[in-house]
Amino acid sequence: MDEAVEVIVTRLDVRSEALRAGAAVLSDEERDRARRFVFDRDRQRFIVARGVLRGLLAARLGLRPQALEFVYGERGKPALAPRLAASGLRFNVSHCEDVAVYVFSSAGDVGVDVEAVRAMPDADDVATRVFSGRENAAYRALDPRDRPLGFFQCWTRKEAFIKALGHGMYYPLDRFDVSLAPGEPAKLLRVEQSPEDRRRWRMTGFFPVQGFVAAVVAEQADNHFTGDPR
Ligand SMILES: CC(C)(COP(=O)(O)OP(=O)(O)OC[C@H]1O[C@@H](n2cnc3c(N)ncnc32)[C@H](O)[C@@H]1OP(=O)(O)O)[C@@H](O)C(=O)NCCC(=O)NCCS
Repeated sequence: MDEAVEVIVTRLDVRSEALRAGAAVLSDEERDRARRFVFDRDRQRFIVARGVLRGLLAARLGLRPQALEFVYGERGKPALAPRLAASGLRFNVSHCEDVAVYVFSSAGDVGVDVEAVRAMPDADDVATRVFSGRENAAYRALDPRDRPLGFFQCWTRKEAFIKALGHGMYYPLDRFDVSLAPGEPAKLLRVEQSPEDRRRWRMTGFFPVQGFVAAVVAEQADNHFTGDPR
């Protein structure tokens, strides 16, 4: 991965001490959001995850966690408020169950996604609906035993890309292809209408903890597209 990109993996500890520490650094807006979660577990994880995010950003910026301020993109992507943006620090977060992955970059935009690798009874139908034609062909060519991992490698890589762009689920998922086969490197294979994007973004896949797969997509520090002749 690019030197300008840093990845932190953590388990969200929702015991009372961690919860108190998280709640103590949240803004009023974040506390309101926490109150709106229907399930306690989701609320607790949000509080702890946001508290950890504030702590990690604060350490990198030399500020107190409470002093941080966020703004949100049109599709909800959080970023540092303009008064802190001069630092050039970008970040993104993903959580699944109690695993949280934080990614920081001083080179450009970033996106991350983490998922638990599991067998899903409707995985083949979901793949038909959300993966591109090329991804579906690669997915169906896999040995059935490799399909759960192939599915979530594809899912996390696609999700990390649309999160890097900040579009979330509004970006058409058939407009780009990613690699997915277990054992093959993570790659953005095609981006319709903007082929240069393939080299603008670097995609990395990894296993943050046992049973989970994750992907990071980061804008490259060297945006002149020399070197890697993919
Ligand atoms: C909200 C979304 C960005 C990710 O949601 P998710 O996978 O359920 O959750 P994750 O834990 O990976 O990411 C949530 C975090 O992403 C960040 N986020 C929210 N909106 C974002 C956006 N538009 N772009 C990038 N990051 C975003 C937030 O920090 C959020 O954490 P928070 O709620 O604690 O603040 C959005 O992409 C989504 O709902 N996707 C639908 C899933 C889908 O169809 N995926 C297809 C993949 S093949």
